[in-house]
Amino acid sequence: FVIGVDLGTSAVKVVLLNQSGEIVDEVSKEYPLIQEKDGYSEQNPNEWIEKTTEALKELVEKFEGDVSSIEGISFSGQMHGLVLLDENRQVLRNAILWNDTRTTEQCKQIYQLVGEEKLLDITKNPALEGFTLPKLLWVKQYEPQTLEKAKTFMLPKDYLRFKMTDEIHMEYSDAAGTLLLNVAEKKWSDEICKLVGLDKKLCPPLVESTACVGTVTESFASVTGLTTTTKVFAGGADNACGAVGSSILSEGKTLCSIGTSGVVLSYEETNDRDFQGKVHYFNHSKENAFYTMGVTLSAGHSLSWFRDTFARGEEFTSLLDGLANVSIGANGLLFTPYLVGERTPHADSIIRGSFIGMDASHKRIDFARAVIEGITFSLRESIDIFRESGKTIDTIISIGGGAKNDTWLQIQADVFNAKIIKLKNEQGAAMGAAIIAAYGVGWYGSLEECASDFVSYDKTFEPIKENVEKYNELFNLYKLVYANTKDLS
Ligand code: XUL
Repeated sequence: FVIGVDLGTSAVKVVLLNQSGEIVDEVSKEYPLIQEKDGYSEQNPNEWIEKTTEALKELVEKFEGDVSSIEGISFSGQMHGLVLLDENRQVLRNAILWNDTRTTEQCKQIYQLVGEEKLLDITKNPALEGFTLPKLLWVKQYEPQTLEKAKTFMLPKDYLRFKMTDEIHMEYSDAAGTLLLNVAEKKWSDEICKLVGLDKKLCPPLVESTACVGTVTESFASVTGLTTTTKVFAGGADNACGAVGSSILSEGKTLCSIGTSGVVLSYEETNDRDFQGKVHYFNHSKENAFYTMGVTLSAGHSLSWFRDTFARGEEFTSLLDGLANVSIGANGLLFTPYLVGERTPHADSIIRGSFIGMDASHKRIDFARAVIEGITFSLRESIDIFRESGKTIDTIISIGGGAKNDTWLQIQADVFNAKIIKLKNEQGAAMGAAIIAAYGVGWYGSLEECASDFVSYDKTFEPIKENVEKYNELFNLYKLVYANTKDLS
């Protein structure tokens, strides 16, 4: 058996898999966001540990086999979040998360200190509020005494793994989202650290996602019921793990994953593609592989915001009941999902969303359809950037909340003009983490072999020509909304 742990933004999910890749059991535990000011988004790292411990304990208690047959465990985690530890390895402040947008000023500083060209050359990515380096510089500027006490910085799931093993590491797929990694050379950038005035010693040792970093400590075993023989593997960023868990492990494969944020990502074999920072370019969890990625900050978040604001307490299935009966274009209603700003392609933390074209005849379901179409249009903007670079995007695997509704999957096929594949028993990033552990303990010779055994296709949604044409026209209108509302924010 192996365990995959996905430390997400709203909850931690742990899954137990047998050697055939079947899900034996899964447990989830939620935790809140701490949003003290507009644009702030934090979590208490010790809450992650508490909830993961509870989830693992429950999983182990329900497990009927011999606990020592759980051979390995690995992780997937929300990216970019800053965790700071002091010399006694104690957390110094709440973690500042990927969806926190307080660092616009620090992004400007990074461009001034490093220069845009050099930053893109070394990190392959632009300075965006969500990434880790701007957060470090924010702490340096506004809480200097905290940074002075800091001995190391970590990312969310790396902190969790440290609490399980007592070993401090970071792995490449998550380190890529810090803006401190030389992505092509897979090493911390001395140059960036020097230019921004950060001590490189704050950066933890780097390992591969599949590296075994130790075994479960006695104290962690005693609180969860796990044994100290279970091997612990480094794991990956949630998006890299989502890709592993959907078998996006070779050229030509593309993923659409709609959770709180939404991403489209495409596998890259080489370290030298240049998208001029228009989309992210990160190290994959597969050794020496990469992926290109576009991010919509409020994807599932837009839909849950809509539900919580206008249909509190209702299930998504009932909220979306009748979605297929609303015609393409939501009867003239257009939504832009910029509830907390937007990442790709605008890199704009100030812009806010809109409903355009409201009519007295519109019903709640028209609004719901507009929200879903708007989220999908936003992801199409990233797909267009991939295509403009010469990539062929004709088949996309869809996972997450966006894959739970067949009408939405057809909308994806029509908006993206690509075949959409839904997976059987999809487990998202937690499956990727479990595959890393399964490969790590030696069940397979490669991640690809393991994924091709563990991941299977369910339904396929083909683009319908007539719908594609209608959506192409609406997409042109959608793009105009950003340009025309930008100055209003
Ligand atoms: C990616 C990003 C989000 C988080 C969500 O750059 O910020 O997708 O990883 O957990």
